[in-house]
Amino acid sequence: MSKTIQNSLNYKKYVVDSKLQYFKPNSAKIEKSFADEVSFSLTQNSKFISPKFFYDKKGSELFEKICDLSEYYPTRTEINILQNLKENFAKYVDHSFRLVELGSGSSVKTRLILDILNKFQEKIEYFPIDISEILTESSSLLQKDYENLHITGIIDTYEGGLEFIKNYDNKKNLIIFLGSSFGNFVPEDGKKFLKKINSTMKSDDLFLIGLDLVKNKETLENAYDDSKGITAQFNLNVLSRINDELDADFNLNNFSHYARYNENKQRIEMYLKSLVEQFVVIQKANLSITLKKNELIHTEHSHKYKLSQIKELMTQTGFDIKHIWLDENNYFALTLVSKRF
Ligand code: AVI
Repeated sequence: MSKTIQNSLNYKKYVVDSKLQYFKPNSAKIEKSFADEVSFSLTQNSKFISPKFFYDKKGSELFEKICDLSEYYPTRTEINILQNLKENFAKYVDHSFRLVELGSGSSVKTRLILDILNKFQEKIEYFPIDISEILTESSSLLQKDYENLHITGIIDTYEGGLEFIKNYDNKKNLIIFLGSSFGNFVPEDGKKFLKKINSTMKSDDLFLIGLDLVKNKETLENAYDDSKGITAQFNLNVLSRINDELDADFNLNNFSHYARYNENKQRIEMYLKSLVEQFVVIQKANLSITLKKNELIHTEHSHKYKLSQIKELMTQTGFDIKHIWLDENNYFALTLVSKRF
């Protein structure tokens, strides 16, 4: 039995063709259900809904729209940095690296990295890791444009996917985590996650992370409260999702989107504000809740960093910084690190 198969025993392998395969965990992970999580989070003193629930089909479409908004600078700024990387980045990787992406990502960004690898790799190996089967769609689109691309999708949590990669084989990995998704972790969980990545890396592996930088409050608040109201729709959509999937009766007209920058904590805090005193029933969670007028339901944190904090964070979590690339306004940072030994 080859090493690959042995180490993948907990996963079921789906082969689409000679260049496209997926792995999915065999046993469904025992995760708390949507209903359980919501019934916990909406009965706390400070109510909250986890941001992971934003991304149903509608929520993912709204997020794509956010990325195209003029006020939402992170996506286009990161793309701009990636477009300018070229040889400056190519010198850190060689023909033996495979690309591992946390979150299957917007294919624009993945393509920019693939274009760099394509210059010197005859066969490009790409391992997207995503909990959502959406990765199957983005993978087949990429395949059409890169003839030499061999994709192994891992449909699992980031942690599960990283463990899979760790045990897969001895090839060098370039792990990428773009879009400042890391900023949605609270600091403690973020550090744990970076340590997890670090512990799965081999001595020659590299990790590229995109992080949003601290900037003026107005720019930040406009990015999370845009004039077209798309971010508001994105935020409110989580209530529609609870209505649809858990038989609830949230009246969306009774809520407004609220986003503010907390300068002390260096983060955008996003909430749904109850505009009236109201009573909501969530049948499938066996729950009735009362919301006071102006009560806030927290839905997301989006942390912003100073360069000095990025350096400190990487050092604390066991990395050596190879390079930090910035845009001309110092709005966003792409940091390449290796594991410190
Ligand atoms: C996915 N994540 C990095 C986005 C952010 O900027 O924190 C989610 C988002 N929320 C509102 N707008 C964008």
